[in-house]
Amino acid sequence: MSAKATRNVLVGIAFNAYDPLTANKVERASEESVEQIAKEVLTAVTELGYATFIIPLQKSFMHFSQRLKTLNADVLINLCEAFLGRPQLEANVAAALELLGIPFTGNDSRTLALCLNKFKTKAVLKSFGLPTPPAVLADSPDQKIELPFPLIVKPNTEDASLGIHSDSVVRDEDGLRKQLRHIQDVFGEPALVEAFVEGREFNVSVMDVEKPEALPVSEIEFAGMPEGEPNICSYAAKWLEDDVLFRSTPPRCPAQIDDALRSKLQETAVKAFLACSCRDYARVDFRVDKKGRPFILEVNPNPDISLNAGYARALGAAGIDYKIFWKQLIEKAMNRSKSK
Ligand SMILES: Nc1ncnc2c1ncn2[C@@H]1O[C@H](COP(=O)(O)OP(=O)(O)O)[C@@H](O)[C@H]1O
Ligand SMILES: [Mg+2]
Repeated sequence: MSAKATRNVLVGIAFNAYDPLTANKVERASEESVEQIAKEVLTAVTELGYATFIIPLQKSFMHFSQRLKTLNADVLINLCEAFLGRPQLEANVAAALELLGIPFTGNDSRTLALCLNKFKTKAVLKSFGLPTPPAVLADSPDQKIELPFPLIVKPNTEDASLGIHSDSVVRDEDGLRKQLRHIQDVFGEPALVEAFVEGREFNVSVMDVEKPEALPVSEIEFAGMPEGEPNICSYAAKWLEDDVLFRSTPPRCPAQIDDALRSKLQETAVKAFLACSCRDYARVDFRVDKKGRPFILEVNPNPDISLNAGYARALGAAGIDYKIFWKQLIEKAMNRSKSK
């Protein structure tokens, strides 16, 4: 597409704006970050020569859709991770765009809905023969859990490490019950109780322009973790820049791993991408146990795509320009709508 042609293409960038009235008041950093992502994408897409505008999704979906109609974009970059502060409504936003017939980049509503539910995603991955840690879904804090310790207790349908803290790793019955009650009290949703995989943590970003391809593997390094802290990427480690846990979990991309493990992680990530019917981009989170066996923790079909987050870092390590990434996805989304 020539520079002249890009000027004639109107690209909207949709994101969920942080709203103090509807947001989860305790853990807000992940929500506030979406606006920053939108600004960075806006800069990249504007530099490509596209006519661009930014469109925040706040508490009125009606207002949002009216603005979409008025602006009449050729294509949207959908960065919405939640609605009314709830990640559980992320897929509904994409579904509405599908019904409105607006082409958009990123994953479709069905993939977003599947992957938000960690337990169901694990069932899909298992049915495709892909490895994921043994787990049970606990509907009540008293449910009998027949899995050996150590375990990790997570909310089943959240993202961005919400609800994941040092105490989430439990080593006995008391700790387990406390965490199950905590998830019920704070999130009011079933808890995923999963075998805690001691070992290294890797993320594999997958990019799908012509076909899904794994980008260089990234590792979250735990070498500097304070004594007694479990090696996990908790909420504090992911979002609270002044926290010792944030400083103790630096990412490294490309990861320092041997060729065999790298290929295994990359192949498995592409298979997981296909199993969850992902499109455009996604990031797959792994733990590798002491025997070197990889386990998929989750598939992120709407990962943090800002310049200082894992996906852009992996693009950089692959020598792929951030702007060119967006150009390819914009063109792909427009072709999708043409071919319908
Ligand atoms: N089964 C597990 N074994 C070891 N660590 C885990 C496990 N599940 C989660 N974690 C830790 O918790 C973090 C967040 O869990 P994850 O399942 O990726 O949820 P989220 O959607 O919040 O990113 C992971 O990055 C990892 O550090
Ligand atoms: Mg994760």
